Amino acid sequence: MPRSKIAGIGYYVPEKVVTNFDLMRYMDTSDEWIQERSGIVERRYAKRFEETTSVLGAKAARIAIERAGITPEEVDFIIFATLSPDYFFPGCGVLMQRELGITKTEIGALDVRNQCSGFIYALTVGDQFIRSGMYKNILVVGAEVHSMGLDFSTRGRNVTVLFGDGAGAVVLQPTEEEGKGILTSRLHSDGTYAEELAMINPGAHSGYHLRKLGLDADLGYDENQEFGGLFVTQKMLDEGKLFPTMNGQLVFKTAVVKFIEVINEVLQDQGYSPSDIDLFIPHQANLRISQFVQKKLRLSDDQVWNNIQRYGNTTAATIPIALAEAWEAGKVKEGDLLCFAAFGSGFTWGATLIRW
Ligand code: UT7
Repeated sequence: MPRSKIAGIGYYVPEKVVTNFDLMRYMDTSDEWIQERSGIVERRYAKRFEETTSVLGAKAARIAIERAGITPEEVDFIIFATLSPDYFFPGCGVLMQRELGITKTEIGALDVRNQCSGFIYALTVGDQFIRSGMYKNILVVGAEVHSMGLDFSTRGRNVTVLFGDGAGAVVLQPTEEEGKGILTSRLHSDGTYAEELAMINPGAHSGYHLRKLGLDADLGYDENQEFGGLFVTQKMLDEGKLFPTMNGQLVFKTAVVKFIEVINEVLQDQGYSPSDIDLFIPHQANLRISQFVQKKLRLSDDQVWNNIQRYGNTTAATIPIALAEAWEAGKVKEGDLLCFAAFGSGFTWGATLIRW
């Protein structure tokens, strides 16, 4: 059975830099608070009316495709991970296909909705299709445009200051090279905490889960209306309930435990220990989370790639952006052992081990 190798990588971040000081013009926050709690100094925001999630994805994808030595027409499967899609439906996969000018229809396009762990999930799905022999050139993209939908009032500050826009892409191809490629992956989920980091509206939930959990389910639904009217209500608009919300402390505490567990799982599966890792690329959720994990695993600064300081949390895009940056900086060399790990909304989490 062939393994999957990453044959090409690329990333794109929008030009517009938004500093913590810029955000202070919109909400009650400070550069000191943001840096101290998250390590973030600045992030990028997409150009309004021009740069959508699928457009950013296509920009990163073009670079990955070229570096893989193929043309867009040779891609036979697209996997697009995002939580900020252009449309409710159809997904960003088909929109990016069109943006890339891929007109052939002998291609599949799949959207993955696993938020912060979206890239690990997407990569793992792609890996299975390569191993089964079904596809030969799989484009895996993680992209987000958060800036168009966040709450820029003080009410949303605990979420808004953390997120940024960007995209990363890889091309997966089969390899028969002994010991090379994606060695193993582990995926996890626990729906118990679905609402702890979520954007529940607009949606078809009609308050069902909230009522079951004993939470406030009064979203201004019209009890007399027979059909429709549940996705968006005036109350949601008036009370700012169309934004993401997060129980930051719970997410932080759970993340640090699950990161370490899942990294150890993939390492043990292959008979390695943390010291064998040449480069660890954690999902960029919070610099403090990455530093905690680094310390627990006794990794040196040289073994870890962080860029959240410059881009914030770009959710599904953090790992492929960081990988592409590290590769461009000469930090990813032939034969290196790489480890990716992510944790986030769902909760979902996972890790992947690759021999480059
Ligand atoms: O990739 C997605 C996964 N997400 C994460 O991994 C995020 C994990 N969680 C975190 O990174 C942290 O919990 C945060 C950075 C989000 C927050 O840090 P914290 O130390 O947990 O702060 P907190 O939520 O407990 O809030 C402390 C205080 C509160 O004020 P009071 O109640 O103590 O007066 C907040 O209202 O900080 C306040 N606060 C802010 N102040 C200034 C919250 N956000 C801000 C802000 N600027 N942006």
